[in-house]
Amino acid sequence: MTVSPLGRDIDRVDGRAKVTGTARYSADYPASEPRAKVAHAHLVVSTIARGSISAMDTVAAQNAPGVIGVYSPFHKLGLQPVPGAGENYAPLQDTRVRFRGQIIGMVVAETSWQAREAAGLITTTYDEQQPRTSLADEPRVPAAVAPGQPPASATVLAPGVASIEAAFAASDVVVEASFHQPTQHAVPMEPHAVLAEWNSDHTQLTLYSGAQLPHIAALGAAIRLGIPPTGVRVITPYVGGGFGSRVIPWYDVPLAAAAARELNRPVRLVLPREQVFTVIGHRSAVDQTVKLGASRDGVLNVVSHASDAVMPFVGYWSMRPAIETSAVLYKTPNLHFDERQVLLDVPPTCAMRAPNEAPGAFALETAMDELAVATGIDPVELRLRNYATTVPGTGARWSSKHLDDCYRVGARRFGWSARRARPGSRVDGQWLVGMGMATAIYPGRRIPDPVQARVRLLDDGTALVSSATADLGTGATTLLAITGAHELGIPLRRVKPELGDTALPQGAPAVGSMATASTVPAVEAAVHAAVAELVQVAVTDPRSPWHGANSEELAYEKGQLRGRGRSMPFERLLRTVGRRSVEATSTVQPGSEATEYMYHSFGAHFCEVRVNRYTGEPRVTRFTTVVDAGRIVNAQAARSQLVGGVIFGIGHALLEDNPLELDTGRLAGSNLADYMVPVNADIPAIDVHFLDRPDPVINHLGARGLGELGTVGSAAAVGNAIYNATGKRIRSLPITLDKLL
Ligand code: MOS
Repeated sequence: MTVSPLGRDIDRVDGRAKVTGTARYSADYPASEPRAKVAHAHLVVSTIARGSISAMDTVAAQNAPGVIGVYSPFHKLGLQPVPGAGENYAPLQDTRVRFRGQIIGMVVAETSWQAREAAGLITTTYDEQQPRTSLADEPRVPAAVAPGQPPASATVLAPGVASIEAAFAASDVVVEASFHQPTQHAVPMEPHAVLAEWNSDHTQLTLYSGAQLPHIAALGAAIRLGIPPTGVRVITPYVGGGFGSRVIPWYDVPLAAAAARELNRPVRLVLPREQVFTVIGHRSAVDQTVKLGASRDGVLNVVSHASDAVMPFVGYWSMRPAIETSAVLYKTPNLHFDERQVLLDVPPTCAMRAPNEAPGAFALETAMDELAVATGIDPVELRLRNYATTVPGTGARWSSKHLDDCYRVGARRFGWSARRARPGSRVDGQWLVGMGMATAIYPGRRIPDPVQARVRLLDDGTALVSSATADLGTGATTLLAITGAHELGIPLRRVKPELGDTALPQGAPAVGSMATASTVPAVEAAVHAAVAELVQVAVTDPRSPWHGANSEELAYEKGQLRGRGRSMPFERLLRTVGRRSVEATSTVQPGSEATEYMYHSFGAHFCEVRVNRYTGEPRVTRFTTVVDAGRIVNAQAARSQLVGGVIFGIGHALLEDNPLELDTGRLAGSNLADYMVPVNADIPAIDVHFLDRPDPVINHLGARGLGELGTVGSAAAVGNAIYNATGKRIRSLPITLDKLL
């Protein structure tokens, strides 16, 4: 009897390879041709934030030991920007400097240390201009909006209400609060790295490089190198963390590839940690103001949310914290949001860990806590009073929503009833103890684009399940195995998953918490198609016992074909007919339900903190998160994702900060000593509970996404608990002890 692995605690199928070190990450790959000697590249980055390069002295570098190539704006590599991505420059193509830490040169040498040494010998002379660095600067322009996306600013008014100001004037209670969040970075453990290898006539390029969207990584490299996309293969089976930083293909990869082409050698480029902070994009600093108007009993009458984020001079990413949270979270008859950007000479911004929702929810969910204080209503009760059953403003329906139960179940598991509303009323020795809560909301949808998977049934009784999505450490590889085993009704150990290679059918992007919900239906379809192939072989091959039967007479169940009173495992049939395997590739795409419903996953966070009365040190001591993400495919991996998200939230609240020096445009904390992320000692046991109710719309399993959900609202839960402990409301992140003294 085969028990389906679906919904159980399943260890990573690639766990052993990872912990024993046999899993290969990008920088681990040797050249595929054993005699080809890998050359090593090192980048040179700008030390001013705005201006131009007047001269570069590269003579010493060229003459340094082991050096085989030195590239700069005066010895270009001929790259071109990707026009559709809002990209307005390609490194080394001109002498202009747009931010501090921009790529201005590259040295290639026999060893990585020789390359690094020689890069340090290059001297650059600049014509320097004063960089624009302050988020408080004018002008502020409407946030850039992708085609088909909601506008940067909008107002929804109830019938008879003249304006948002009038709605506030008609509200009993008004709370207004402004928030600042500093620059944040994804800081995946694996630095960005690539091994670039061409075939002998330079028509085929293989890139070993971590990517959240392998096919987009290949396309980006192809465009920048001026070759057809079919000429690029990206191999990325293991990725040491993405968190948004591997969504956009950056310039390290095409630079290494261009040098490899010119030098006729495989080239490896591994970014030193400091360069990851500026060559790779970050999450913008963001200022937000939330204003809430409500009745005396806490029923919202108006929600207003404005944000100012960075528009980096080099384009790429527009933050939308207001619309992604305030436009969907609470029921309100009047709604206003306004998302603006300020043009600054800073490194590129990009997606990072619930890019918009995490900052947006910090602002909105802190303001809701302030409304709870202002009205004297319990924060959980306040949220239930403003519960949205349809999307505010648009009236759209959710595919499924059990957020109300997340609040109730979470409050019970956490022991919320023990909370005292008056701040500072729980003291334990030198510690002030407080409790806070907040909501999590993040899209859990399927990608609207086509997604492919391939299933191959082999004569040894195994099945190969292939789809070129990426596993960033999320458990996508294991998800392929679980889904394949569940759909085929065979044990997990008989399923071999493969992903992370553009030679495989194009899978779901590992972005926006979409991979699971998008991959599951593709695997299901491929299983059905492969079984249909098997049946076809059974009825047409003269050696088959079912030769000549109608395919309707055969049924597949749990690894066996049955019909006409007999049954046979698929591997025996394949051996009987002398075939090694049957396979099928399926392409799936959501139907009209994709636009008829909104798909979000939901959660409720509950947090207990202790703040030292004498030092101001905040410690998170308990955390409970209850989640509605539809059906859970792998309970263990899902819990890990949520725990990771909450840890990000704790870092967001208490630690993460990269100060920008306003005079120089330098991100001063661009290393892992100064850029603080939580360590084990900062994190208590985190209690995660899933409602595990299948979504009736999204896919046949009812599984929505949950990767980024835990990151949303968790920082606000920490801040709200700190307020409850101390009576201090800190609206500028991170909440460090100096702000609590
Ligand atoms: Mo995620 S920040 O959508 O890669």
